[in-house]
Amino acid sequence: MAVLVTGGAGYIGSVLVEALVAAGERAVVLDDLSRGHRAAVHPDAVFYQGRTGDRELVARIAHEHPLDACVHFAAFAYVGESVSEPGRYFDNNFTQAQVLFETLLAAGVKRVVFSSTCATYGVPTAVPIAESHPQWPINPYGWSKLFVERLLESFDRAYGQRFVALRYFNAAGASTRCGEHHEPETHLIPLALRAAADRGPKLKVFGRDYDTPDGTAIRDYVHVGDLGEAHLLALAHLRRGGDSELLNLGTGTGYSVLEVIEAARRVTGRDVPFESAARREGDPPRLVADASRARAVLGWTPRQPSLDGIVRSAWDWMQAHPDGYRG
Ligand SMILES: NC(=O)c1ccc[n+]([C@@H]2O[C@H](COP(=O)([O-])OP(=O)(O)OC[C@H]3O[C@@H](n4cnc5c(N)ncnc54)[C@H](O)[C@@H]3O)[C@@H](O)[C@H]2O)c1
Repeated sequence: MAVLVTGGAGYIGSVLVEALVAAGERAVVLDDLSRGHRAAVHPDAVFYQGRTGDRELVARIAHEHPLDACVHFAAFAYVGESVSEPGRYFDNNFTQAQVLFETLLAAGVKRVVFSSTCATYGVPTAVPIAESHPQWPINPYGWSKLFVERLLESFDRAYGQRFVALRYFNAAGASTRCGEHHEPETHLIPLALRAAADRGPKLKVFGRDYDTPDGTAIRDYVHVGDLGEAHLLALAHLRRGGDSELLNLGTGTGYSVLEVIEAARRVTGRDVPFESAARREGDPPRLVADASRARAVLGWTPRQPSLDGIVRSAWDWMQAHPDGYRG
């Protein structure tokens, strides 16, 4: 059997494709390269360039490969862009996902692993955040992801298409082969490392007056390789007939922006020049996962929870790929 990986040329998707290949699975990637990189796709994976909303193409892929599951990463994921261009986000992340799932259903593919996000919770009222926490996103990106969760629940009930929605907190780090190359980059760790390497502007620290010990925002950074492993476990869960699930993926430990900067200093041995800036609208002070359910259901535990280890892997990749996938 083969697994369809949408968005497999992106940051997290490329790491899963690598893990699938290592596990002896056949990986078929569908990516329109709007945000991803052809070079990120493992050479042993089959690659199709196209959109998840292209019914004809998805049907052809399902005809050409014995798919038994789909891991759906493909989406736009910039919060600010989703506020200024909401229609693009609902189209790309929701409407096209619906076409994808319908086409897969018609081809008899009834297992889906979906990249959801802690952004579906909005501003949390309790931290660590459990899956039972109310979901009220504060931007179109979060809503587009939450709508897909609801769509999947409805499709499961109506058509028996089972799913595991994985709500990632902050993906970070790299494997030896695959790393983070977004344009523009908005994530803290690569930005801090670029500032350290003198390859980017001074890092901006948004908000120094949060109600946290050092005044900066706290996030839960989870190694991208650990995310990849959670997807393999989710596929195994669905293949053995497990129920549909909605699961948080995080380490359960939060680090502040200043703590991440300190880790970047320790790992690189260089200064990380930064400047303070105003809080960004809709940036909650603290987002930390209660991931105990993923452990109970999937048997998943992050193997690389150390912040320095995560930063080190990102730094090693950046050193080996100074121009990302362009090099
Ligand atoms: N990076 C994080 O910290 C994080 C956190 C929570 C959730 N997520 C979710 O995880 C997924 C992957 O994130 P990432 O950081 O790897 O993003 P990414 O932008 O690196 O990868 C997304 C990939 O999907 C492709 N794509 C987008 N729309 C497409 C479409 N309609 N058809 C085909 N291909 C399309 C892009 O070209 C890109 O290669 C996304 O769904 C994102 O919302 C990411």
